[in-house]
Amino acid sequence: MWFSPGRNRFPSQNWHGAYNCTNFNVSLWVLSFCWCFAAVSGQNYHPTVNTQYGKLRGVRVPLPSEILGPVDQYLGVPYAASPVGEKRFMPPEPPSSWSGIKNATHFAPVCPQNIHNAVPEIMMPIWFTFNLDIVTTYIQDQHEDCLYLNIYVPTEDDIRDTGAKPVMVYIHGGSYMEGTGNMIDGSVLASYGNVIVITLNYRVGVLGFLSTGDQAAKGNYGLLDQIQALRWISENIGFFGGDSNRITVFGSGIGASCVSLLTLSHHSEGLFHRAIIQSGSALSSWAVNYQPVKYTRLLAEKVGCNVLDTSDMVDCLRKKSSRELVEQDIQPARYHVAFGPVIDGDVIPDDPEILMEQGEFLNYDIMLGVNQGEGLRFVENVVDSEDGVSGNDFDFSVSDFVDSLYGYPEGKDTLRETIKFMYTDWADRDNPETRRKTLVALFTDHQWVEPSVVTADLHARYGSPTYFYAFYHHCQSLMKPACLCVVFLCSLFLL
Ligand SMILES: *[C@@H]1O[C@H](CO)[C@@H](O)[C@H](O)[C@H]1NC(C)=O
Repeated sequence: MWFSPGRNRFPSQNWHGAYNCTNFNVSLWVLSFCWCFAAVSGQNYHPTVNTQYGKLRGVRVPLPSEILGPVDQYLGVPYAASPVGEKRFMPPEPPSSWSGIKNATHFAPVCPQNIHNAVPEIMMPIWFTFNLDIVTTYIQDQHEDCLYLNIYVPTEDDIRDTGAKPVMVYIHGGSYMEGTGNMIDGSVLASYGNVIVITLNYRVGVLGFLSTGDQAAKGNYGLLDQIQALRWISENIGFFGGDSNRITVFGSGIGASCVSLLTLSHHSEGLFHRAIIQSGSALSSWAVNYQPVKYTRLLAEKVGCNVLDTSDMVDCLRKKSSRELVEQDIQPARYHVAFGPVIDGDVIPDDPEILMEQGEFLNYDIMLGVNQGEGLRFVENVVDSEDGVSGNDFDFSVSDFVDSLYGYPEGKDTLRETIKFMYTDWADRDNPETRRKTLVALFTDHQWVEPSVVTADLHARYGSPTYFYAFYHHCQSLMKPACLCVVFLCSLFLL
């Protein structure tokens, strides 16, 4: 049962947290273990590989487990030209070649971002907000020259599969405003799954997504960065023993929205073959920015640029330091984003829902899924949920939800009452703890379940092999950023 923003789809049956997945292959894999480890120091073997652009020198890293073979890491590999100066607010260009051997043994800087100011915390993954200190150390080294990827290559052949290895490309999340692929160590997944794992940085926030809605700045640079990275991978992964015909793109939250959008874009045609879309979709209310010009003007005014002529404005914004731009505090409307992918008629040709309904995606195998209680962060933000939720707080939350997401005033009262009715457990209506649960179910259903189920349904309707999972296990390890955990390991079984 679900609601959908602006689409006026009313619920036909009411089940809190019980998702109707009968149309899909429902698969649930629980692997409730997770390795976390610090980088082992004192490595001395340095593999070198060729690429189309020059030679790379990586590092072989043993893993602290008897069953896991070592992994060759190539860190900070340039996949695009540095997007600075005139190249700011422009699609990425291929990187330049180098002579000699480039050391790929350390992470490259992360893209400029400001995690303490301009970010609505509820849009970030929970382990991100819970571990802000750890996260901060990962993103201290920031530079606009940030279009790099990291490659984790297993070194011990699996007897079942000795050919070219499948490739998994991780698109990080983080409200389109922050994050970096450097934070996810792909070593365990690579070694355990005998797959090549790749993480990458793409431009985020203003620098990744600013749009004037016209030719002056068309937006979507961050998405085009991901596509350029996929192009680099297609062309070069063979050098690392990878199979360029078996590339899976995966991500969760905003990363999932990105992956979902990539399946809709002809720019990524042929560059990947499978997609894993975890807890998010192009249909989530925060997936696409429908008001880019409003936020671009707001930014320009804050930094003193002329807003009358868009090309003057963009020229002016190109001259500002990246720091000045990312530090402006521009808050999006609740449940939305201020800087994110835009419908530009090109990279994203039309509204994602229209594209999906018309079957305008390429034929990928896709897996989507949701986690139980994902909406908790919204509830924690709205009310004090220590002792459950009072009747007043419940009413306030529902009203605020309707006001933020539904534009038309006429139907609002009815919608509000309908939601309250549907999300009240009538057998236990006066229990604050039950009220908290149903409120979490409301946000989970609206923000995650409905967009994912509709996306899966539409993909399946147009003949794409579609898998759906619902994840009920509460995993403490998900709080730890330095590892690829449960949900990622689950994905292995698709390969
Ligand atoms: C790469 O690293 C090695 C060892 O740290 C060093 O000797 C070499 O000069 C470096 N190469 C380049 C091109 O920086």
